[in-house]
Amino acid sequence: MILALETSCDDTCAAVLRDDGTIASNVISSQGIHDRYGGVVPEVASRHHLELVNAVVGDALRQADTDLDGIDLVAVTQGPGLVGALLVGIVTAKAIAATRGLPLAPVDHLQGHVAANFVGPDPFEPPFVCLLASGGHTLLARVEEYDGFEVLGRTLDDAAGEAFDKGARMLGLPYPGGPALERLAADGDPEAFTFPTAKNVAGLDSSFSGLKTSLLYAIRDLGEEETARRAADLAASYQSAIVRALVDRCERALDQTGLDRLTLGGGVAANGPLRAAAERLGANLHVPDRALCTDNAAMIASAARFVAPVAHPGYLQLDAYASGER
Ligand code: KG4
Ligand code: ZN
Repeated sequence: MILALETSCDDTCAAVLRDDGTIASNVISSQGIHDRYGGVVPEVASRHHLELVNAVVGDALRQADTDLDGIDLVAVTQGPGLVGALLVGIVTAKAIAATRGLPLAPVDHLQGHVAANFVGPDPFEPPFVCLLASGGHTLLARVEEYDGFEVLGRTLDDAAGEAFDKGARMLGLPYPGGPALERLAADGDPEAFTFPTAKNVAGLDSSFSGLKTSLLYAIRDLGEEETARRAADLAASYQSAIVRALVDRCERALDQTGLDRLTLGGGVAANGPLRAAAERLGANLHVPDRALCTDNAAMIASAARFVAPVAHPGYLQLDAYASGER
């Protein structure tokens, strides 16, 4: 069995994956503390990981009905992410592996999101196009194998989840903004306002900063009272622009690759209108369970099955990386 840890952002996660690829446990402890700051504060996140990580690992083992004697491999997210946060997971994983004489598999966080498709009640096999849209990343990947992917395009500025969060904040909604904005938008008219979808951005890249600015201008032009009265229309139109931008890139990616299988991942994959619009593309669509779409350690364990494990003492040199790939 694989014990995996994921601490790249603000969720402290541990999971146990069985040999046959079934999930024995998938524990996620979300740090509610960032709400009051309107976003994740890196130093606060690191401290909380440190406080939570041992208990979360303990829970993952207990729920999997095992202990460290039952573990054959330790896996951990190496990056990209917040370096201080990542280091808590890495140091913990090294300590567990070293004291037990186990090998350690360093996993790329984005490869983890892709590998979320390979586990769960309904696994999905390559080849497919994967749209990954969360608070930290927005990219389209061509996935032909289990151990890698080709980036077809990515956001040139904000991530899609960030666009949801910032738009929600401008409309006075709480963090994280995505779910709150989706709820408000349900009562609004998506065609009430016209927001840009960065159609001029070539290829499979995307951009959300212009959209954010146009919402800011719309709110300024309407004034406080009218903005409050038309908040649902603003939310629906803004959400519709994000969804159209994302689905347009998915459509282009399917065309370009000739593939007819599409998956959605990252927190934004929970968005109802996004799923509905992606379904209309006509490709074979797969969306992993919500708990596998947002940051979690089961996806890291899943990816670890296809990573060459590093033996002791080689992994003691492993360091976190903040961005890019290894
Ligand atoms: O994957 P995730 O939990 O964490 C990382 O950022 O890695 O993604 C969180 C992001 C937030 O920006 C949140 O606002 C967005 O996903 N999100 C949503 C929805 N649920 C979460 N965005 C749109 N609609 C939703 N229902
Ligand atoms: Zn993520």
